[in-house]
Amino acid sequence: MKQYLKQHEWHIIEEGLNPHYNKISESVFSLGNGRMGQRATFEEDFSGETHQGSYVAGVYYPDKTRVGWWKNGYPEYFAKVLNAPSWIEIKIKIGDTVLDLAKCKIESFNRVLDMKQGLLQRSFTATLADGKKVSVDSKRFCSMADGEVGAIRYEIVPINFSAPITITLPVDADVVNKDSNYDEKFWEEVYKEAEPGIALVTAQTKKTNFHVCTAMQYKVQAEGKDIPQQVSVTLREKYADNVVVADLKQNSGLVIYKYAVVLSSENHPKDKLAAHAKTKLKAAVAAGFDKLFAEHAKVWAHKWEECDITIEGDVAAQQGIRFNIFQLTQTYTGEDERLNIGPKGFTGEKYGGSTYWDTEAYCLPFFLSTAEPKVARNLLVYRYKHLGKAIENGKKLGFKDGAAFYPFVTMNGEECHNEWEITFEEIHRTSAMAYAIRDYIDYTGDKNYLTEYGLEVLIGIARFWNQRVNWSGDKGKFVILGVTGPNEYENNVNNNWYTNYLGAWTLRFAMSAITYVKASNPARYAEIVKKVNFQENAETDRWKHIVENMYYPFDANRNVILQQDGFLDKELIPVKDLKPEDRPLNQKWSWDRILRSCFIKQADVLQGIYLFEDDFDEETIRRNFDFYEPMTVHESSLSPCVHVILASKIGYKEQAYEFYLRTARLDLDDYNNDTEEGCHITSMAGTWMSVVKGFGGMRVRDGKLHFTPFIPDQWKSYSFRLEFRDRVIKVKVGSGGKVETMLESGEPLEINVNNKVFTLTK
Ligand code: BGC
Repeated sequence: MKQYLKQHEWHIIEEGLNPHYNKISESVFSLGNGRMGQRATFEEDFSGETHQGSYVAGVYYPDKTRVGWWKNGYPEYFAKVLNAPSWIEIKIKIGDTVLDLAKCKIESFNRVLDMKQGLLQRSFTATLADGKKVSVDSKRFCSMADGEVGAIRYEIVPINFSAPITITLPVDADVVNKDSNYDEKFWEEVYKEAEPGIALVTAQTKKTNFHVCTAMQYKVQAEGKDIPQQVSVTLREKYADNVVVADLKQNSGLVIYKYAVVLSSENHPKDKLAAHAKTKLKAAVAAGFDKLFAEHAKVWAHKWEECDITIEGDVAAQQGIRFNIFQLTQTYTGEDERLNIGPKGFTGEKYGGSTYWDTEAYCLPFFLSTAEPKVARNLLVYRYKHLGKAIENGKKLGFKDGAAFYPFVTMNGEECHNEWEITFEEIHRTSAMAYAIRDYIDYTGDKNYLTEYGLEVLIGIARFWNQRVNWSGDKGKFVILGVTGPNEYENNVNNNWYTNYLGAWTLRFAMSAITYVKASNPARYAEIVKKVNFQENAETDRWKHIVENMYYPFDANRNVILQQDGFLDKELIPVKDLKPEDRPLNQKWSWDRILRSCFIKQADVLQGIYLFEDDFDEETIRRNFDFYEPMTVHESSLSPCVHVILASKIGYKEQAYEFYLRTARLDLDDYNNDTEEGCHITSMAGTWMSVVKGFGGMRVRDGKLHFTPFIPDQWKSYSFRLEFRDRVIKVKVGSGGKVETMLESGEPLEINVNNKVFTLTK
């Protein structure tokens, strides 16, 4: 854990440059706008520790799989969101000396992420090796108003000299992916162009042939006016720039504006990319930095109105939640149903930038409550469109007759993860899609989704479970063998309780969806039956049989659910007895040792209890929490939020608060020692849930909103807004847990607060 960032309600602030933390800061201070994003690398050269990363949503590369021993059913590739052509560099040379903070004496350094306005700022005063002292102030953003536009304002002031300055303004497609299996470069040049004032490169991804055109134009000014300058251009493979030489006069600064556009063939015809880029760039330059920024900030102001959470009396907690909301919002805007939410968003390359079960299990509730229903619906439709591929994935593993096995990691519906214990065994993920359908319907009331899309998906997934279970003569029950549950520190176990529970629930849910669609729209039902060749009676008879006879591991002595068969054979040791030098286990212990231990990577039994809370009484929840939480190491970012929600439910307020800080400040404080690889974007939705579902106790039951709020002792008040069935409501919880609810828009709404029913009116 590191605590070098300053606390502030709206800003993330780094004072002083610690070169060893630079990659962490590059992740934390990342910018994005749903279409593109970038790590917070410096504009000028930096020879210290850095990971230059720019990303374009939906543009990926199928990197050839690397495995020690091939297993049938492995995917051929691992899809990677690519480190894309970069436009952020403004390289500075003064006289003959390159401005490189790794080689300067730094007097002051500040990096600030203004989350309210989506602006990255940096200022420093530094002395170069030859004694020249400069001060620099830079600002940049990726426009939320137009996802293809970004801009930088870079001001440099010579403090103790006058000299010529050389400014290099590149567009560079010669980038390498940090995460590459065979050290290949993934981009090829298609077209480039440079003339004084503009530089442009169109590059295409190998194999997938996505074209991306990145173009830049600039202005160099002093006191608001263009200044005399000599301009030359460079063109080399995958690279184009303008090089500007001007005079830098002591104490009188130059301001460099760099405008950029990034267009991809996902949204423009390939043969028009360069032309469209130039038109767009011209408009951006004409608008100018201030106007572009004002438009961008206006969108952020609107977004914050929709999804801000305020916390009074605890700056660390306030900064944490805003940071999570900020990152989530700039990663996924919900406008394009082809896109999804990668675990690292635009902040790094780990996990390939692809779609995981994280979206359905963690992110969906955030988007359901803070955006119009279309956004969450788009996330579901994304999976509907992958149904065919999910059936193919199933076939590759020997399933048949339309059994849908959704991938653990995907870009286009195909599985692209190849660790056997996850690819083949972490099968619970396929039902995350079913649970998301239920979540969406419960929240929005849009049951029609079942008729339009949902039922087909549910039948496919139910068929998977039907084939994946087997009858145990010994137990006289259906069992599910050879799986990995959410807790990835156990592989190839039998009867992971979470998996068995979710599988049986999916079968029940699919049957209830069938009943609904059949009754409400017989014609559509007939169409689906025909399309998927559904043998209703035969198939559902067997599903019922499985549901009624599923085996659930349980320990009668302790009266707790068992994570899996044989769990009690382990030596049960609490995490608090581990030595600090053993943590995190996944970086310190061998896999063999991890697998034999009782330690739990992330909520597993507790994940199931969280998803199906109403199936368990409070005493049962407490007993299982008391048993499993002490053995949980939370080495997945997805873990603490589930514990906040359950701890809140059972009245463990202090613990809930501790877990909250852990999830909210996971990246800000680098809890898991891995933020330099990127931020944990998908778990950020879990932070939001921690406040709303955890402290706020928000649930939807029978189409109604329920709240059982409490307030952590450290806070004076907190408030959040929810969009719910054409209403916007605001909930504020003050000291002593006093609750105020307000209907901001929409028709009167009945809600339940602390088991009392109220009607909210304006
Ligand atoms: C977790 C998975 C998760 C993945 C991506 C892993 O560490 O164990 O549950 O899907 O990270 O966030």
